[in-house]
Amino acid sequence: MQHVVIFSGAGISAESGLKTFRDSDGLWENYKITEVATPEAWDKDPKLVLEFYNMRRKQVLDAKPNTAHLAILELEKKFKVQVVTQNIDDLHERAGSRNVLHLHGEILKARSTKTHLTYLINGHEIKPGELCENGHQLRPDVVWFGEHVPNMDKAEKLCEKADILIVIGTSLNVYPAANLVDCVNNNCKIYLIDPSEVPLWKRKNVTHIKQKASEGLPALIKELLEKF
Ligand code: OAD
Repeated sequence: MQHVVIFSGAGISAESGLKTFRDSDGLWENYKITEVATPEAWDKDPKLVLEFYNMRRKQVLDAKPNTAHLAILELEKKFKVQVVTQNIDDLHERAGSRNVLHLHGEILKARSTKTHLTYLINGHEIKPGELCENGHQLRPDVVWFGEHVPNMDKAEKLCEKADILIVIGTSLNVYPAANLVDCVNNNCKIYLIDPSEVPLWKRKNVTHIKQKASEGLPALIKELLEKF
């Protein structure tokens, strides 16, 4: 069975109503990264950081998987499919994808600031003063700018095995995640699905499908199922 890795970013969830980061009116146009998404921001104003992620958790729970998330299931009929996502939402899982690796954490989980144990909290809001069972403050289980990306090694190994890489809805601005596109072998076919131009589009071996996720991904998947 051929291996397909789907490397997704905020763009795949845009049509579910979740804002991307760097498009116009994206999240980083309305919030400063340095105030809500770094360890320094947490040290300075944990209440503000918790409020930002409590709001995002609520938005995720109000959203539903869209056609693009759902289309991936079709691929599993003929391919070994692995999703590697930068998204902290659970829309791939709710669509039914079985193999999902989160690079930047999961908003529906809390993590102890000391033991690093994680807890599934679903819609629960984390408050300042809310502690893990060992008495340490809880934080969202997300990776902030400047923090280590614990699943990067696993993701690199998955990409090394890929026969097909589908990069979808990511501006490839954030490292080390963006390095994943360089981990595939020379024979790996790369598809890029994004209505905008992203750095990858000019590279050899890359087919740029300049469409929204809900159009481009189902069409590509249909083509792959017919071809293999
Ligand atoms: P960005 O906001 O940087 O990029 C979103 C991409 O999605 C852009 O290239 C858009 O053109 C594209 N896009 C928009 N609508 C789309 C649609 N309907 N279908 C397909 N593509 C669409 O988001 P990411 O690249 O995911 O990290 O951002 C990477 C990381 O930066 C995030 O994981 C987050 C953020 O800061 C952390 O918080 C650590």
